[in-house]
Amino acid sequence: MLKRYRAGTAIIELVQGDITEQDTDAIVNAANRTLLGGGGVDGAIHRAGGPAILEECRKLGGCETGDAKITTGGALKARHVIHAVGPVYSGRPRDAELLASAYRRSLEVAVENGLKTVAFPSISTGAYGYPVREAAPVALSAVRDFLLAGAPVSLVRFVLFDPATFRAYEEAAGRIFGPPEEP
Ligand code: APR
Repeated sequence: MLKRYRAGTAIIELVQGDITEQDTDAIVNAANRTLLGGGGVDGAIHRAGGPAILEECRKLGGCETGDAKITTGGALKARHVIHAVGPVYSGRPRDAELLASAYRRSLEVAVENGLKTVAFPSISTGAYGYPVREAAPVALSAVRDFLLAGAPVSLVRFVLFDPATFRAYEEAAGRIFGPPEEP
């Protein structure tokens, strides 16, 4: 499934699939503060990208929640991995601020590195317990605001791992962007 929306001159896509297979300039990892790997999408990216990614992560000195840092993409199709740390869900208003920051900082890091196309997983909605119906509008609004401010990013693709997550993002996207473009 693929749905396509516009934010200014940029394109936002929702796809169901595996982020390790994306051929964008960068893929974003849902990492933890150590940046030393884990399960979920973190595990999948390190498995698919190989040890070169972890070797660079070790030199980064960790990453604060809401921040993002870049490494090589190793053996992945994507040239870079941007490791973002989302909040562990607590139900407090700060959750949404930190989640939005993780997306915004990832795009800032992409722009700092001259990258034009970025793929995101659904950050924090797995092990970190963020309800996906709450996370989707926060994620999409943060990306929309960043792109509408004139960022030189041409494509942001959300790669959603299961149908329920895809549907949550599709419903939020319809409210935020209006109807998707005709395929
Ligand atoms: N491609 C795309 N999305 C994926 C993939 C994949 N290969 N594998 C898992 N996902 C999805 C999950 O289904 C979920 O929707 O990524 C989303 C985020 O889930 P997690 O990977 O659990 O990430 P998060 O909730 O942010 O928790 C981060 O988990 O893996 C550890 O080291 C990581 O401690 C950190 C924590």
